[in-house]
Amino acid sequence: MINIAVLGYGTVGSGVVEVIDSNNASINRKSGNDIRIKYVLDLRDFPGDRVEKILVHDFDIILNDPEVKIVVEVMGGVEPAYTFVKKSLLAGKSVCTSNKELVATHGPELIRIARQNNINFLFEASVGGAIPVIRPINSSLTADPILEIKGILNGTTNYILTQMDVEGWEFDKALSTAQELGYAERNPEADIEGYDACRKIAILSSLAFGSNVKFEDIYTEGISKITATDIRYAKKMGYAIKLLASSSVENGRYFAMVAPFMVRSSHPLYSVSGVYNAIFVRGDQIGDVMFYGSGAGKLPTACAVVADVVDAAKHIDKHIYTFWSEEDLHLTGIGDSTRSFFVRVSGNRAEREDEITKQFGEVKFIELDGVSDEFGFVTKPLAEKTFEEHLKNIPNVIGRIRMEEKLNAGC
Ligand code: HSE
Repeated sequence: MINIAVLGYGTVGSGVVEVIDSNNASINRKSGNDIRIKYVLDLRDFPGDRVEKILVHDFDIILNDPEVKIVVEVMGGVEPAYTFVKKSLLAGKSVCTSNKELVATHGPELIRIARQNNINFLFEASVGGAIPVIRPINSSLTADPILEIKGILNGTTNYILTQMDVEGWEFDKALSTAQELGYAERNPEADIEGYDACRKIAILSSLAFGSNVKFEDIYTEGISKITATDIRYAKKMGYAIKLLASSSVENGRYFAMVAPFMVRSSHPLYSVSGVYNAIFVRGDQIGDVMFYGSGAGKLPTACAVVADVVDAAKHIDKHIYTFWSEEDLHLTGIGDSTRSFFVRVSGNRAEREDEITKQFGEVKFIELDGVSDEFGFVTKPLAEKTFEEHLKNIPNVIGRIRMEEKLNAGC
């Protein structure tokens, strides 16, 4: 019998209890042990609920109970989660968490404490919901250095962009619908400004490259400035706009960024719609490996947490080595990254063509049917910093979006 405690009875916490209750027999068979929820910690009471009799309000009851071998942290946020998790690990209890803020902020320290105590700190659910990606990076893709990770890591923004594309909605309408459906929080900033995806790519990059990628160092742009007109241009060119998170190593220099990109229809990420996530991992020998599935949601995320509980139960006196040192990785700024850019400018194309080609050389112009007071153009590939220097000389720019055109990722 392995006793566990669940910290937080919110969306994911109640999902963890539901999954363990409903799949108990198969979970026990797969873990080779009986998994029992001994406590659920929450500030609130839940009269009449299944957890009423095991609900505690005091974390010390869990901390001081030697029968509790695994703690599930699904409270979210850095504090008090960090304090509870650190104390649990120091007390010799393995921890499984879905908390990407906690992992991105304190991951390497918590992994070290777990290693020193011969227990485990597992966080599969912190990235990509139900999609197994952390365990594969840590266990299955270890024979070949990972060169690049690229993907759609945020379900809420992917839902918003998909609805804007399919329905022609403006951003605000797509966001409010996402909120009504429970995908987006009442304060949607973390999702729409890219902070959530930034923390997730920081976690994946740290695991892939073995040193700590600080999320604060990652260039991050969200989707809140994307408009229905941007999407019309994208569609006219045969592209979709996606919020991509990526990191790579080239000639010993490491890069990471989160930003909206135009993704062409032949690219595998083009057809990743709604709240789905997809992640490419590229190795030198293995080429591209793609992971795809439900990136969010109560039960998919809970299943990833419970799978970590099963793994922790299978390794009760054995630390699973995790390749993520406390040493910070230096990220090179994105100024030298090379790509094409789509730019929207006000005015009449015929009157402004010369001015634009003088700055950018040959470009491809795009005009929308029925729109005469603006037009768009796509540059040839050029370094970010060169692009910005030239763009400063162009008046009345409405916006710009990067183009994802690399001939990798199976396209
Ligand atoms: N807000 C996140 C998303 C939840 O939309 O992807 C899963 O981390």
